[in-house]
Amino acid sequence: MDQYAVFGFPIEHSKSPLIHQQFAEQTQQSLSYKAVEVRPQVFDETLDDFFRLGGQGVNCTVPLKELAFRKVDTLTRRAEFSCAVNTIKKMPDGSLLGDNTDGVGLLTDLCENLGLNLKGKRLLVLGAGGATRGILQPLLEAAPATLYVANRTLSKAQAMVSLFEPIGRIDASSYEDLAGHRFDIIINATSASLSGELPPLATDLLAKNSVCYDLAYSQEATAFVLWGEQQGATLSVDGLGMLAEQAAHAFKLWRGVMPKTSNVRANLRG
Ligand code: ATR
Repeated sequence: MDQYAVFGFPIEHSKSPLIHQQFAEQTQQSLSYKAVEVRPQVFDETLDDFFRLGGQGVNCTVPLKELAFRKVDTLTRRAEFSCAVNTIKKMPDGSLLGDNTDGVGLLTDLCENLGLNLKGKRLLVLGAGGATRGILQPLLEAAPATLYVANRTLSKAQAMVSLFEPIGRIDASSYEDLAGHRFDIIINATSASLSGELPPLATDLLAKNSVCYDLAYSQEATAFVLWGEQQGATLSVDGLGMLAEQAAHAFKLWRGVMPKTSNVRANLRG
């Protein structure tokens, strides 16, 4: 049986094994997928062992995506842009291909599941860390009218913007300087939600019919999802849909078949 795994630290709450088992059943593929706790210090040798013992593919999550980026032999274009790898595939010649399906997972959730069209829209991304870096390329390629990256540390937003300027119109901002702007879609890519916090957001940032999307997810509504609801967003959702979609794109890379995510998404929402 072909073997797959997700590596991370911590990993016990990972939903990936459940998601991939459901994809395997749905597409009638025979495979095993397990969660493995891997500390950064032993990432390289654990990965080598996994593939030496017959493993076919690995997902990497926090805090291993940058290590995976450095470890693989070749990169897809989107992994190169994001400087992070969340999916590794063992190729027929034994080499390791690194991909990043986070950005395409977000776009699939926004456009296909939620029915949004980003073309001509005013977008705001909160945060300028690894999560932001993973989503800017596909967001810009969807041709929004404007895309602002706001961050507490302005210099990090500016550095991020200079990396992605060649792809499309993108601006850096502090949170204070957002005042007076209105956005159709606000995406929270800060790690603030994980500790129940919110970036310092003004109260008049949402345009009519706006959408708030938190890359983070949790059992209860995240602080940012609640903020969006309080601000009158038409839709304010967390990143469970993106989680299912990035997994589906990883499954496609490994198995050559794109699973449907509707049941998986329903199950994740419990
Ligand atoms: P990740 O890989 O999850 O993006 P990261 O690279 O450490 O993690 O980046 C975390 C991001 O969340 C940063 O943009 C950080 O802002 P700073 O660069 O100013 O530190 C942002 N962040 C974390 N906690 C925050 C908070 N309470 N309010 C606003 N921004 C926050």
